[in-house]
Amino acid sequence: MSVVIGVPASAEHETRSPIIGDVVKKLAALGARVLVQRGATDRAFITPESLGEVDWADTSAEVIAGSDIVWTVGPLSASDEEALRPGQILVGMLAPWSDAARAVSLAERGVTAFALELLPRISRAQSMDVLTSQGSASGYQCVLLAAARAPKFFPMITYAAGTIRPSRVLVIGAGVAGLQAIATAKRLGAMVQGYDVRPETREQVESLGAKFVDTGVHAVGEGGYARELTDDERTQQAAALAKAVAEADVLITTAAVPGRRAPQIITRSMVEAMKPGSVVIDMAAEGGGNVEGTVAGKDVRIGGARVAGPVNLPARMPVHCSEMFAKNLFNFTAPMITDGALALDWSDEVIAGTAFTRDGQVVHPVVAQVLGLSAPRPTASGAAETDADSTDAEEPSA
Ligand code: NAI
Repeated sequence: MSVVIGVPASAEHETRSPIIGDVVKKLAALGARVLVQRGATDRAFITPESLGEVDWADTSAEVIAGSDIVWTVGPLSASDEEALRPGQILVGMLAPWSDAARAVSLAERGVTAFALELLPRISRAQSMDVLTSQGSASGYQCVLLAAARAPKFFPMITYAAGTIRPSRVLVIGAGVAGLQAIATAKRLGAMVQGYDVRPETREQVESLGAKFVDTGVHAVGEGGYARELTDDERTQQAAALAKAVAEADVLITTAAVPGRRAPQIITRSMVEAMKPGSVVIDMAAEGGGNVEGTVAGKDVRIGGARVAGPVNLPARMPVHCSEMFAKNLFNFTAPMITDGALALDWSDEVIAGTAFTRDGQVVHPVVAQVLGLSAPRPTASGAAETDADSTDAEEPSA
């Protein structure tokens, strides 16, 4: 019997599809079949014909019952999660840090869940990295949202009666999304500045033709991520950034620390000091916001500035984001399938490092710690056992 990949319909607010026709063909070459809920790909503008040789089911329950591996963009609905059975594999962006009760329930159900947010950021895993592919779309979208809200041109414009100066765009957080925001704002002709606490980003920001704002605060944590700043560092950072913020026409913030509330970098008074008509796009709004006063999913006025906290930006461009997501999912899942059958190699650091729940437990030590759960400990057999007193859990890689 060949492995069946099931694709239930996404939540209503989600337009992306985790499957595309090209990936169906690649799965078929591995001996795997695909079972899709009718309508699941409609909002991504993927027609049933373009998916090719797949099986169809009318309900998500039928899809889940008929599959070995379930692919999803975001977390499943509560009822779909309840339909999962022991040993079934779930792969997607499962928001592992968000809800301890949900994590425990998924674990107790016996589901082997892989949260792609946990994927190790190593070279070999780049082709599987949804944080990168979807983050890049988010950064691009931030700039388009800013340009559409701005009462100014982004580029320099020369017209019969003179010259219009280009807009000044400041991007805070120069990770995947921030660098794409910088590149997009440059393409639109703005004067761009970038800032991050990881010193290696200076070269990356400058290579895109933008100017790096140096606050003197360097904060590199584990796994190449930023760490949380101390109070003194936060004060130093705010003082150094205040001038650049006040001079910017557009401020885009993308700073995140995995598993933590987004760092608040921009105070209300810094926004109030911006020029009337300024635009702020806080990409971190869903995680608490980098800007004091941001409201997720809304535009609010702070002083003379319009502050937007957009959510789920990749869902605004489902065609390309589905394509990237589905290819990332395939690259992650393909090594688990040999001759059409499931064969998971738990010694593979990518598979083991991305596991969220397994053998009845929340097995990712950092997630377990953030959620306040007892730390899992690998045993000789590769299964995990729990020890409430264990001190094995790492600090969150922040
Ligand atoms: P992220 O989405 O977790 O954070 C965005 C940016 O915010 C980061 O650049 C971070 O340094 C910055 N930040 C955090 N706190 C800040 C603060 N208080 N002030 C200013 N900036 C702050 O980051 P993302 O984009 O996911 O990338 C994280 C790391 O992973 C980077 O080192 C990146 O180069 C690396 N990476 C590695 C990949 C691989 O090898 N497979 C793929 C993609 C990223």
